[in-house]
Amino acid sequence: MKHRVVLVTGAGRGSGEAIAKKFLSAGDIVVATDLEAPSWEYENQDENLLRFAMDVGNEKEIVSVISKVNSLTEGISILVNNAGISNGGGSLLNCTSERFDKLYAVNLRGCFLTMREVAKKLISEKKGGAFINVASIAGKNGFADTSLYGATKAGVIGLTRCLAIELGPYDITVNAICPGSVDTPMLAGLFKRRAEAQNITIEEAKHQMALTIPMQRLQQPEDLGELVYFLASKGARNISGESINLDGGVVRD
Ligand SMILES: NC(=O)c1ccc[n+]([C@@H]2O[C@H](COP(=O)([O-])OP(=O)(O)OC[C@H]3O[C@@H](n4cnc5c(N)ncnc54)[C@H](O)[C@@H]3O)[C@@H](O)[C@H]2O)c1
Repeated sequence: MKHRVVLVTGAGRGSGEAIAKKFLSAGDIVVATDLEAPSWEYENQDENLLRFAMDVGNEKEIVSVISKVNSLTEGISILVNNAGISNGGGSLLNCTSERFDKLYAVNLRGCFLTMREVAKKLISEKKGGAFINVASIAGKNGFADTSLYGATKAGVIGLTRCLAIELGPYDITVNAICPGSVDTPMLAGLFKRRAEAQNITIEEAKHQMALTIPMQRLQQPEDLGELVYFLASKGARNISGESINLDGGVVRD
């Protein structure tokens, strides 16, 4: 059986790590990338795992890592654009242009550049593939003090819709997933602040948030792994241009 080559960005921890491990568990070849090459181990799958440092804010690094991976393997056919930063920028009056540029460079431009670089070989060889972009419900619903983050994630949804049309004729699907609150290090600061403010434990702060969600639970990184894996499967070959909520029922559009 032919192994698929799957590139996951931001795979050093959190959801990216869980997504990478889901593909590894299915026997795919995984290229795990992050600001520093990911260091986690996964069972005895090391022969199927390549690790690279790739800052998605750095175009040269993206071009060089993707071309290296394409020369070492049969070529990337599945791309998971998961790398992202939060701290939405703060309230309007506190948003700086530096923060705008940083969020834009990582969350939106990085997503665009990796798709462009991976698409080059896929288009020229007519191999087909699947691109899955991790957006957020913040790109659909508004949340206070997260305008810049929300704008970049809305941008990811827009890129996804347009590129689905452009890449469809090459048998490449392009979809976004829109998680709600995921229990990863990204939210650790938020839970800590809430726990301190109310003199409760972090677990209690998580439980409080869970009660605001119809399904009454936070998303776990493995939930993203399952959905992304499905979107990369044959069963999803006619799903493209979608931005699928993974939020326990918070956003119903
Ligand atoms: N945690 C949530 O509640 C939540 C909700 C919706 C969407 N998301 C999105 O899910 C994705 C994964 O986030 P997470 O929750 O696992 O957070 P996380 O902070 O635990 O992990 C993000 C990973 O991205 C990496 N990263 C950051 N900047 C990078 C860069 N320039 N180049 C390469 N890698 C970089 C980090 O080093 C880290 O390993 C992000 O796109 C995030 O915006 C998260």
